[in-house]
Amino acid sequence: MAFLCLFTILLAGFLSRSQLVMAQLLPDETALLAIGKELGLAGWGLNSSDYCSWPGIHCGSNNSMVEKLDLSRRGLQGNVSLISELKALKWLDLSYNNFHGSIPPAFGNLSKLEFLDLSSNKFGNSIPADLGRLRNLRSLNLSNNLLTGAIPHELEGLKKLQDFQIFTNRLNGSIPIWVGNLTNLRVFTAYENELIGKIPDNLGSVSELELLNLHSNQLEGSIPESIFALGKLEVLVLTQNRLSGNLPELVGNCKGLSSIRIGNNELIGNIPKTIGNVSSLTYFEADNNNLSGQIVPEFAQCSNLTLLNLAFNGFTGMIPPELGQLANLQELIVSGNSLFGEIPTSILRCKNLNKLDLSNNRFNGTISEDLCNTSRLQYLILGQNSLRGEIPHTIGSCLKLLELQMGSNYLTGSIPPEIGHIKNLQITLNLSFNHLHGPLPPELGRLDKLVSLDVSNNQLSGNIPVAFKGMLSLIEVNFSNNLFTGPIPAFVPFQKSPNSSFLGNKGLCGVPLSLCGNSKGADHESYHHRVSYRIILVVIGSGLAVFVSVTVVVLLFMMRERQEKAAKSAGVTDNGTNNRPLIIAGNVFVENLKQAIDFDAVVKATLKDSNKLSTGTFSSVYKAVMPSGMTLSVRRLSSMDRTIIHHQNKMIRELERLSKLCHDNLMRPIGFVIYEDVALLLHQYLPNGTLAQFLHDSTKLPEYKPDWPIRLAIAIGVAEGLAFLHHVAIIHLDISSGNVLLDSDFNPLVGEVEISKLLDPTRGTASISAVAGSFGYIPPEYAYTMQVTAPGNVYSYGVVLLEILTTRIPVDEAFGEGIDLVKWVHSAPARGETPEQILDARLSTVSFAWRKEMLAALKVALLCTDTTPAKRPKMKKVVEMLQEITQN
Ligand SMILES: *[C@@H]1O[C@H](CO)[C@@H](O)[C@H](O)[C@H]1NC(C)=O
Ligand SMILES: *[C@@H]1O[C@H](CO)[C@@H](O)[C@H](O)[C@H]1NC(C)=O
Ligand SMILES: *[C@@H]1O[C@H](CO)[C@@H](O)[C@H](O)[C@H]1NC(C)=O
Ligand SMILES: *[C@@H]1O[C@H](CO)[C@@H](O)[C@H](O)[C@H]1NC(C)=O
Ligand SMILES: *[C@@H]1O[C@H](CO)[C@@H](O)[C@H](O)[C@H]1NC(C)=O
Ligand SMILES: *[C@@H]1O[C@H](CO)[C@@H](O)[C@H](O)[C@H]1NC(C)=O
Ligand SMILES: *[C@@H]1O[C@H](CO)[C@@H](O)[C@H](O)[C@H]1NC(C)=O
Ligand SMILES: *[C@@H]1O[C@H](CO)[C@@H](O)[C@H](O)[C@H]1NC(C)=O
Ligand SMILES: *[C@@H]1O[C@H](CO)[C@@H](O)[C@H](O)[C@H]1NC(C)=O
Repeated sequence: MAFLCLFTILLAGFLSRSQLVMAQLLPDETALLAIGKELGLAGWGLNSSDYCSWPGIHCGSNNSMVEKLDLSRRGLQGNVSLISELKALKWLDLSYNNFHGSIPPAFGNLSKLEFLDLSSNKFGNSIPADLGRLRNLRSLNLSNNLLTGAIPHELEGLKKLQDFQIFTNRLNGSIPIWVGNLTNLRVFTAYENELIGKIPDNLGSVSELELLNLHSNQLEGSIPESIFALGKLEVLVLTQNRLSGNLPELVGNCKGLSSIRIGNNELIGNIPKTIGNVSSLTYFEADNNNLSGQIVPEFAQCSNLTLLNLAFNGFTGMIPPELGQLANLQELIVSGNSLFGEIPTSILRCKNLNKLDLSNNRFNGTISEDLCNTSRLQYLILGQNSLRGEIPHTIGSCLKLLELQMGSNYLTGSIPPEIGHIKNLQITLNLSFNHLHGPLPPELGRLDKLVSLDVSNNQLSGNIPVAFKGMLSLIEVNFSNNLFTGPIPAFVPFQKSPNSSFLGNKGLCGVPLSLCGNSKGADHESYHHRVSYRIILVVIGSGLAVFVSVTVVVLLFMMRERQEKAAKSAGVTDNGTNNRPLIIAGNVFVENLKQAIDFDAVVKATLKDSNKLSTGTFSSVYKAVMPSGMTLSVRRLSSMDRTIIHHQNKMIRELERLSKLCHDNLMRPIGFVIYEDVALLLHQYLPNGTLAQFLHDSTKLPEYKPDWPIRLAIAIGVAEGLAFLHHVAIIHLDISSGNVLLDSDFNPLVGEVEISKLLDPTRGTASISAVAGSFGYIPPEYAYTMQVTAPGNVYSYGVVLLEILTTRIPVDEAFGEGIDLVKWVHSAPARGETPEQILDARLSTVSFAWRKEMLAALKVALLCTDTTPAKRPKMKKVVEMLQEITQN
C-alpha cells in the first residue's frame, strides 16, 4: 500500500513536471543553472524549457549540448570553475569581466575547447599546467590579467595553437622553446610582462607568424632571423627590451611587414639595405639604440612609409635625398645622431610631412627658402645643429606650424616679421643661442596662442615691443643675454617671469627688473622715448593701413579669380549662380529635416563673421538661419584637416555612422556640406551656448543664482557621454568646456565627436600626432607620448569638472607662473588652503548638503587629474562615483 502510494506520488510528479523529462534530455541544464546562480545571471533559468535560447549560449546541432558560451562584458564575478562541467564546450569567452582568483585547473577538462578567452579580468596566480591538456585549442587569450610566474612548459601540448595572447600580466621567466615549435602559430603577443632571456631562435621557423609583439619586457640577445624566415610577418614590435645585435638582413623577406618597432633596445650595426624590399612598410621606429652607418636610401622604395624614427642612435652622413620620394611620409625624426649637410630640400617636398625633427645633429647648411612649400608641416625642430645663414622670410608661409625650434645654431640676420603670420604657433618659438640681431618684430605680438617664447642669447636690440601684449597665451619667456633697452612692457606674463628671463641686456628696466630710472636725464630720455614712440606709432599705423588695404585688394582679387575658376570648372556661367561657392556634396541624414535645410544658405552663413559663435582647435562654429526659419549650428573644419576632404567617401560613411550613434549627451551630426575644399558639419542649434559660456561669461554675473544641482547634472551628463564614447571605442580629441553644449533644459551635449572619428589617431600609426587639443585641458603625458588616450580624456574631463566646481578657467594668470587650474587645486594643501577654499564659495556656502556634494565631486576631479594616467579612473567609474553623490 505504502509502496503504491509512493509510486503514485512519483508518477504524478513525473507527469506534471515535464522539466523532469527535459532534464534527462538536456544534459547541461543542471550545470547551467548552477553557473547562472553562482554568477548571478538574471536572464538564465526564466525559460528552463530550453537553455539553448538563454543569452550567451549556443548549442550543438545534434544533441543540445552547450558548444559556445559568451559571457563577455557583463561585469560578472564569482567562481567560474563550474563551467568545466559543460563537456561539449568548444568556444568560451569570459573576457572583460571582474573574475579573480586562479584560472580554474578544471578548464583543462574541456577537451573539445578550441577558443578560450579570459582576457581583461583580474585572474591571478600562475597559469595552470592543466590548460596543456586542451589539445584542440586554437586560440588562447589570457591577456590583461594579473597572472604571475612562468609560462608553464605543459602548454607544449597545445599543438594546434594559432593565436596565443598573454600580454599585460606579470609573467616572468623566459619564452619557452616550444612556442617556436607550434606549427600553426600566427599571432604571439606577450608584451608588458617581466619576461627575461632570449627570444627563441626557432620562433617562426615552422609557422607562418604574422604578428609578434613582445614590447616592454627584459628580453636579451638578438632578434632571431627565424621570425622573418617564412616571410609572413606583418607586425613586429620589440620596443623597450634589452635586445642587442643587428636587425637581420632577412627582414627583406617580409614584403607584407607594415610595422617595425624596435626602439629602446641596444641594437647595433647598420640598417640592412634589404629594408627596401619591405614594400608594405608603413611604420619604422628604431630610436634609442646604438645603430650606426648611413641612413640607407633604400627606405625610399617603401612607398607607404608614414613614419621614420631613427632618433638617438649613431647615424652619420647626410639624409639621402631619395627620401623625398616618400609621398606618404608624415614624420621624419632623426634627432640625436651625427648627421650633417644641408636640410634636404627634397624632403620638404613630401607633401604629407607633418613633423620634421633634425635636432641634435651636425646639420651645417642653410635654411631653404622652400622650407614651407609643404604646407602641412606642424613641427619643425631644427635646434642644436650648426645651421648658418638667415631665417628666410618665407617661414611665414608655414601656416600650420605648432612648434618652431631653431635654437643653438649659427643663424644670422634678423628675425623675419613674417613669423607673426603663423597664427597656429602654440607650443614654442625658440630662436635662442644664435647670432640674430636687429629689433624684435612687433608682428610676433599676433601669436596669441603661443605658450613659450625664447629669443635669449642673441644680439637682438631695441625695445621689447608693446605689441607683444597680444601674446595672450604666453607662460614662458626668455629675452636674456641680448642688447635690449627700454622699459619692459607692463604685461602679466612678463611681470610674473623671473629676473633671469630679462637679465644680461644692455638697458632693460621695469618689472621684474628694477624700476626705470627717474633722474633728470631719464626725464629727458623719456621725452625722446615719447617722441620716438609717436613716430613709431605713426609709422606702424600707416604701415598697417597700407598693409590692410593691400590685403583687401589682394583678397578681392583672389576671390574673384577663385570664383571664376570654380565657375569654369563647373561650366556654370549662365544661370546666375556663379557668385556662389560650388557645392560638391551634401546630405541631410534626418529625413524630416531634408526640406528645411538649404545648402546654399548654410554656406552663405559661414562666409559672414558676424555669424561666428566660437572658434576651437579644429573648427569654427557658425549660426545659420535657413529660409525655412530653422536655425542650425554649422561647424566649419579648419583648413588643417583638409586631408579628410581627400577621403570624402570615407568621411561621409563615417558621418552617417556617427549620425546613428545615439546618446542623450552626444551631439550628433544631422548632415554635411562640402564646397571647394571646405567641409561643413550640420548640427541642431542649441540656444544655451557652451558650458564655458555658462560658467565663465561674466555678463550674467549680476543676476547670478547659485546652481549647484544644475552643474552636478551637467557634470554627470558629460561623463555619461564620454563613457559611452569610450564604450564604443572612440577617443575624443578635444574635450573642453567650450565643446560642451547646453540645450534648453541645460542638458549637456558633448560636441566635436566627429572630429575625433574623422581624425582617429589610433587607426593610423600610434605616435602620429595630428593634434594637440585645447590648452589647459591637455594631459601632462601628452608632451611625451603625443597620443590621445582614454586616460587622457579622463584628465581633460577632470579639468572640466574642476571648472564646474571652482568657476575658474583652466589657464589663468592669477594662479601664478606656470600654474594651471589643475596644479593650483592639487597644490592647495601645500599652500595651507582647505579644499573648501578652492570651491566656488557662492555655491559651497549655500547649504551644508551642497558643500558636502561639492567636496565629493572635488575628490573625483582630483582622481581624474592625477598625473599618472594609470591611476585615473575609467569614465564609467567616474559616472558611478558622481551618481553616488546625488543618491546619498
Ligand atoms: C523561451 O523560449 C521560447 C522558445 O524556446 C521563446 O519563444 C521565448 O521567448 C523564451 N522566453 C524567454 C523568457 O526567454
Ligand atoms: C553529431 O553527432 C554525431 C554522432 O554522434 C557526431 O559525430 C557529430 O560530431 C555531431 N555533430 C556535432 C555538430 O556535434
Ligand atoms: C571555485 O570552486 C571550486 C570547487 O567548486 C574550488 O575548488 C575553487 O577553489 C573555487 N575557486 C575560487 C576562486 O573560489
Ligand atoms: C577532470 O575530470 C575528471 C574525470 O571526470 C575528474 O576526476 C577530475 O577531477 C577533473 N579535473 C579537474 C581539475 O576538475
Ligand atoms: C583574445 O585573443 C583572440 C585571439 O587572438 C582574439 O580573437 C580575441 O578577440 C581576443 N579577445 C579580446 C577581448 O580582444
Ligand atoms: C617569478 O614570479 C614568481 C611569483 O611572483 C616568483 O616566486 C619567482 O621567484 C619569479 N621568478 C623569477 C625567475 O623571477
Ligand atoms: C622543437 O622542435 C625541435 C626540432 O623539431 C626539436 O628538436 C625539439 O625537441 C622541440 N622542442 C620542444 C620543446 O618541443
Ligand atoms: C600601400 O597602402 C595601400 C593602402 O593601404 C595599399 O593598398 C597598398 O597595397 C600599399 N602598397 C604597398 C606597396 O604595400
Ligand atoms: C659640413 O660638415 C661636413 C662634415 O663635417 C663637412 O665635410 C662639410 O664641408 C661641411 N659643410 C659646410 C658647408 O660647412
